[in-house]
Amino acid sequence: MALVLRPARSGGTDGAGRAAGTDEAALQRLDAGTGGVLGDSGPGWHAAAAAAPDRVHLVLDDGAGLAGYLVLAGPRGPEPGVELHRLVVAVEHRGTGLGRALLRAALTLAAVPGAAGPDGVTVDPGWAAPPWLAAGRLWLEVAPDNRPALALYRAEGLVVETRLPSVPGCPTAPALRLVLARE
Ligand SMILES: CC(C)(COP(=O)(O)OP(=O)(O)OC[C@H]1O[C@@H](n2cnc3c(N)ncnc32)[C@H](O)[C@@H]1OP(=O)(O)O)[C@@H](O)C(=O)NCCC(=O)NCCS
Repeated sequence: MALVLRPARSGGTDGAGRAAGTDEAALQRLDAGTGGVLGDSGPGWHAAAAAAPDRVHLVLDDGAGLAGYLVLAGPRGPEPGVELHRLVVAVEHRGTGLGRALLRAALTLAAVPGAAGPDGVTVDPGWAAPPWLAAGRLWLEVAPDNRPALALYRAEGLVVETRLPSVPGCPTAPALRLVLARE
């Protein structure tokens, strides 16, 4: 299976108002399999992420369809480095190493020292990475009960930096989100 990481194609509808010649339907199908862990989504969210100059929205195209996608966000706020804003693998492909390949692609694109590089995945040679991407540090937020994602992140060297408590200002309250990073 040849896997290419390429920019998401957004926008455009046919005469009946359906998405045409874009990844919108495939992205909706991917998001539908995430069991509500994503928050905001839908065609508008993906179109905005694909168009934003401070975001990179890349899909994993296996020639027959989309096997997953990732969204990276540029440095902003107090957290230095590039945020892995979203990482999704199609339900039918989970457990086959694609999550690891996408995460390694993200670490490589963010120029994190020692990043292994995504085995078996080619980055679209026609795509030009924005200058902010090679920040040397990748961080992300994850829910503490998202065990598959946490196991993947830890296995690839990301470490928990911050616990965001469910009650603001109360550090002993259960964690609502964890911030992990690798640099
Ligand atoms: C998290 C996710 C991206 C993992 O993708 P995946 O392709 O299934 O992961 P891989 O097959 O590459 O597995 C890599 C590692 O992740 C961990 N992992 C994956 N699935 C796991 C599971 N169900 N339980 C525990 N650990 C798991 C393991 O450490 C695994 O390494 P191993 O195979 O050597 O044991 C996928 O489950 C997903 O898309 N989930 C829904 C969206 C989501 O939660 N995204 C992250 C937060 S935005």
